[in-house]
Amino acid sequence: MPVDRQAVIKVENVSKEYAFGKQTLLALKDIDLTVFRGEFLALAGPSGSGKSTLLNLIGCIDTPSSGSISIDGDKIADKTPNQLADLRASKIGFVFQTFNLLPVLTAFENVEYPLLRFRVNRARRRERVNRYLRLVGVDKFAKQRPNQLSGGQRQRVAIARALITGPRIILADEPTANLDHRTGDSILKLMKQLNTETDTTFVFSTHDPRVMEMAGRIIKLHDGGIIHSDEKAA
Ligand SMILES: Nc1ncnc2c1ncn2[C@@H]1O[C@H](COP(=O)(O)OP(=O)(O)OP(=O)(O)O)[C@@H](O)[C@H]1O
Ligand SMILES: [Mg+2]
Repeated sequence: MPVDRQAVIKVENVSKEYAFGKQTLLALKDIDLTVFRGEFLALAGPSGSGKSTLLNLIGCIDTPSSGSISIDGDKIADKTPNQLADLRASKIGFVFQTFNLLPVLTAFENVEYPLLRFRVNRARRRERVNRYLRLVGVDKFAKQRPNQLSGGQRQRVAIARALITGPRIILADEPTANLDHRTGDSILKLMKQLNTETDTTFVFSTHDPRVMEMAGRIIKLHDGGIIHSDEKAA
């Protein structure tokens, strides 16, 4: 852990309620969490404990019922929908558990997609997309659509798509859950390498003890609350 710890994500007193029918379910209760620049942080906990909910709130995909979340010192709640979309696009890369690649686009086009909202000319876009496809080891499959790729290849494309804009924060919801051990290991090593080389902050959820083993810090959730925060020696 660096000495000058710069907070990139601040979750303060956050709760999230889901209403279904006449009942409400408290998916997160009074969560306080600060994530520092360059961390490689795992969210652990049983199914239903609130891991995805917390990642979705940090990723501005959903909004808290109460409490506040800041990214780089900016409070999410103060933003207009357009400002929020800009903040997401420029600062956060999200790797979904089910990859969420656009099925009609090729691997190349999926990775290129987040760049289209920025003013990057075609030649530079092309160069950049190819560089990231190479980085995650799927450059050979650039022209293939998601249904012509294996799970591990799709996951790599999803990671390249999350990285392409150079976000400071990558959020990944069970990035290895759908992969065999070997592919999972190589995805994890890739994430760790990017974390070390580019100082990108990673927050990911996992059930997998091998994945937790690689984390710099583990936050354990249970029934929507943090029960344990385990920081390893650097
Ligand atoms: N859209 C929703 N509407 C109602 N309840 C929801 C919704 N999304 C999640 N929940 C509930 O919130 C709780 C937390 O769910 P969440 O998806 O965050 O768990 P998780 O820790 O990611 O679980 P898993 O390990 O199975 O992915 C669960 O009880 C779940 O049923
Ligand atoms: Mg989940």
